[in-house]
Amino acid sequence: MKKVLSIAMVLVMLLCTAVSLASCGDKQSKVTVYEEYELTAEKYAFAVAKENTELKEKANELLKELKDSGELDTIINSFFDGSATFTYQNPVTSVPTGADRDNYLVVATNAYFPPFEYYEGDKLTGVDMKIASLLAEKLGKTLYIYDMEFDSVITSVKNGDSDIGMAGMTVNEERLKTIDFTNEYYESAQVLIVRENDEVFADCKSADDIIAKLGEQKSEFKVGTQNGTTGYMFSAGDEGFGYDGFKNLTTSGYTTGALAVLDLANGKIDAVILDKQPAIMIAKSTNK
Ligand code: ARG
Repeated sequence: MKKVLSIAMVLVMLLCTAVSLASCGDKQSKVTVYEEYELTAEKYAFAVAKENTELKEKANELLKELKDSGELDTIINSFFDGSATFTYQNPVTSVPTGADRDNYLVVATNAYFPPFEYYEGDKLTGVDMKIASLLAEKLGKTLYIYDMEFDSVITSVKNGDSDIGMAGMTVNEERLKTIDFTNEYYESAQVLIVRENDEVFADCKSADDIIAKLGEQKSEFKVGTQNGTTGYMFSAGDEGFGYDGFKNLTTSGYTTGALAVLDLANGKIDAVILDKQPAIMIAKSTNK
């Protein structure tokens, strides 16, 4: 009898170990982007200080040249399809001060936003980085890229630490109170990312369906966004950005969109709201 009991105990223990190992080894889920359902309509432009009309004019001149020649489309497409080869590394570790400061074009960005700005090893690349290098060339200045939190970009431009914000930035009235924008160079939208096996949004057939579903969720439902972005304002609500938001659910702010998507894949949050092309590219690399 004793023997039977101990055999049974060993079996139970083995089973427990097997179950816990299986759950420990749980791989992160794949994520999927509802890319055809555009939740907002936005335009990107570069941010300059209100008094810096000269730089704004030069940047607009460059944008016009790039649009007229078709080069803007070529640049954008090359970063979307991965054929671009451009990379940039700052020639100095910090921006020179005093008289030398004027020889530099200091660009504020947040380099975790492919295909607009991101790292390839320790070098910077992306649509905005390529345009930044063309702008520096046009001005006859040395480019210095200042990578910072996204929600510091506007302050940095406003107080003159940086000359221009090039960060896939959406033009809106709220930001225009503090800084000015160049002409627009790209049209974008916020989209929803969920886990591949998600059931909540499975029946959605339009952006309106997604918005209605978001409106039905409870406070346990967590949406991840990048701090200071349109995605955050769209989810949490912001009068100045023109979004009522979803007060019914919980909006969590992350320092980068990629960290939000990782938490989504690991089941810590339920959805992510991010700009469309970055969403597609970040989802792709998270799913690898
Ligand atoms: N387009 C959005 C906004 O302006 C997100 C931009 C995030 N950009 C970045 N480089 N992380 O709010």
